[in-house]
Amino acid sequence: MNKLLIKNIEIINPDRTFKADVLFDGDKIVQISENGIQSEANVYDGTGKYLIPAGIDPHVHLALPTPAGPSCDDFEMGSKAAIAGGTGALIDFVTPKRGQSLIEATKARLKETEASSIPIKLHVGITWWDDSLDAEIQTLIKDFGIKTFKVYMAYLDVIGLEVPQMHKAMESIAKHGGIMALHAELGIEILKLQYDFIQDGKTIAFYHQWSRPPYVEFEAVEKALLMVEFTKCPIYFVHLSTAESVQMIREAKAKGLPVYAETCPHYLLLDDEKYIGPFREVAPYIMSPPLRPKKNQDALWAGLKDGTIDTISTDHCPFTLQQKSAGINDFTKIPNGVGGIYHRMGLIYTYGVLENRISLNEWIKLSSSNAAEIFDFENYGKIEEGKDEPVFIWDPEPEEVIGDSHPFSNADTNVYKDLKIKGKAIKISEL
Ligand code: URP
Ligand code: ZN
Repeated sequence: MNKLLIKNIEIINPDRTFKADVLFDGDKIVQISENGIQSEANVYDGTGKYLIPAGIDPHVHLALPTPAGPSCDDFEMGSKAAIAGGTGALIDFVTPKRGQSLIEATKARLKETEASSIPIKLHVGITWWDDSLDAEIQTLIKDFGIKTFKVYMAYLDVIGLEVPQMHKAMESIAKHGGIMALHAELGIEILKLQYDFIQDGKTIAFYHQWSRPPYVEFEAVEKALLMVEFTKCPIYFVHLSTAESVQMIREAKAKGLPVYAETCPHYLLLDDEKYIGPFREVAPYIMSPPLRPKKNQDALWAGLKDGTIDTISTDHCPFTLQQKSAGINDFTKIPNGVGGIYHRMGLIYTYGVLENRISLNEWIKLSSSNAAEIFDFENYGKIEEGKDEPVFIWDPEPEEVIGDSHPFSNADTNVYKDLKIKGKAIKISEL
C-alpha cells in the first residue's frame, strides 16, 4: 500500500477545525498529529487547503422510472458526479409497484446499485399498504440493513399513500425501529388544483407552482407532525421549501418529537421567478415541491444554522429537455426533478460558508456528519485516526461559473447555470 503524508492541512470536523499532519496508508488514516509527523511517505503540502469527510447526499433518484423514461443519470454516472464533487455516498430509493413485495423490489434495486463506484443505501418506498407489509418492514430492517421507508403524501394517483394507510405504516415503522422519510405535500389538494387548472386551459409550465402552493407543503408537515405525536414514529422530512415548515419543525424539535429535516440547494438559491418564460427555459426548473418566493430562503438558512434542518440533499433527478417536453401541452406531465450531485458541496461552501451563513464545521455537519449519524454510515462524517474513511481535500481557491449543462451527467440543462462556485474537491488517490 502507498503511504502518503499530508502536511499542514486544516482538518474540518463537525465539532472542530485544526491544523495537522495526516499520514495515510492506502485509504486508512494511520496518524493525525498537530505537532508534525516525520515519515518516508510521499509528501503533499496541504497548506491553505482543507481535509474534509466525504459528503453524503441522502436523497437522489438515479434511473428513476417515470412515464417520460428514467431520470437520465444512472448509478454509474451519479457516482462519478459524486466523487468529482466531494461526495462519497448516496442514498437512493426503491419504488415498489403497488401490490409488489417491498423485499422483491429492494432486491431488484440493489442489483441496479452495483453499477455505482461508491456506497449506496436505499430508502424503501411504501407505495401501498396492507398488513402483510408489517413483516416485510421488519425483515428489511433486520436482514437488509434498511433504516428508512419513504412515503409520498403527494402523487396519490400512482405511488402516494392516503392518511389512514400512512398511519398504519408509521405504526409499523415505529414498532420495528425504523424512520419514515416523508414527502410532505397534500396529494388530494394537488390533484384538485391540477384538475382545475387543466380544465381552465391553464396548461403551461408556469402553473406547476400554483398547483402546489406553499400551504400544500406546510399543512402536510403539520398533519404529519400530529401523527408523530400519536405514533411516535420518527420522521425525516425530505426537501422542505417553506418558512412555515421550518418553524413547525423547530417547534416539534423543541417539544422533543423525533423529527429530522432536509432541504436542497435549489430552495436555498433559486426562486419562483424561474417559472416565468418560454417552456424550454421554465421546464428545467419543474420539481416538487416547486421553487418558492425568495423570502423563504432566509428562513431555510436560519433553520440550517440553528439545527432545525439537519441535512442538505440534492434530490438529484434530472431529465433531458426532450423528456421534459412530455409536458409541453400539460404541465402535469412534465417529469419532476433537477440535477445537482456534482455541485452540492461547492454550492453549500460558496453560498453558505463564504457568505457567512454557516461555519465550516456546519458545512460538514449539513453535508456529511448529520446524514452519517441519522442513516448509520459507519466510517463517515468525522476524520479520526485509525479510520478507513473516505475523505477529500478541499481546495478553496479555484473558481468556476456553472455552465449550461452538468459535468458528469446526461442532463442537457442545469438549474444552477451562471452561479459562481468557489472551491474544488480533490481525491486523495489523485495526489
Ligand atoms: O421533483 C422531484 N423532487 N422529483 C423527484 C421525485 C420526488 O418527488 O422526490
Ligand atoms: Zn426526491
